[in-house]
Amino acid sequence: MHQDFHIKHFYNSNMVKPTKILMVCLGNICRSPMAEGMMQAKIEKYKLDAEVDSAGFEPFHTGDAPDFRAARVMKQHGIDISGQRSRLFRVSDFDDFDHIYVMDSGNYKDVKSVARNGVHMQKVDYILNILNPGSNEPVPDPYYGGEQGFERTYQLLDKAIELIAMKIKNGGE
Ligand code: 4NP
Repeated sequence: MHQDFHIKHFYNSNMVKPTKILMVCLGNICRSPMAEGMMQAKIEKYKLDAEVDSAGFEPFHTGDAPDFRAARVMKQHGIDISGQRSRLFRVSDFDDFDHIYVMDSGNYKDVKSVARNGVHMQKVDYILNILNPGSNEPVPDPYYGGEQGFERTYQLLDKAIELIAMKIKNGGE
């Protein structure tokens, strides 16, 4: 029925659709899998109508589980990310996700290089800009450093992801 169509359309477009978030880094084995795991934990904790995934641009680790140091630090914080597998960013991610959060300027340039239009880039921001809009602060790559770099990654991401969760909870994302 005509009216039903409008009601259904309204609900589909404005209320039922989950907020979809993509976390992006270079290798998709350290920072963005940690961000995905932390966001997933918030989705469960606050029962958010949201979904999260992660992707990278470096194909070297495609199909791999997260770096063992990333998995170990996350486990210390009570989050299991061992089931994740690295995948490459794809152009269709621009259509499939509402927000695309990058870790650093290299990731931002990588995403921009495959964007097809301005609408695509409106979805993209540095994840720490959630805390300090426009500052473009990076989450540094911990891959080549020691274990403490992964704890720092966790600490940098924690406040930003809590704020993303609060925005979704309050209907602002
Ligand atoms: P990530 O760290 O971007 O935080 O996953 C990296 C891991 C591996 C590589 C680069 C960055 N790599 O080139 O192998």
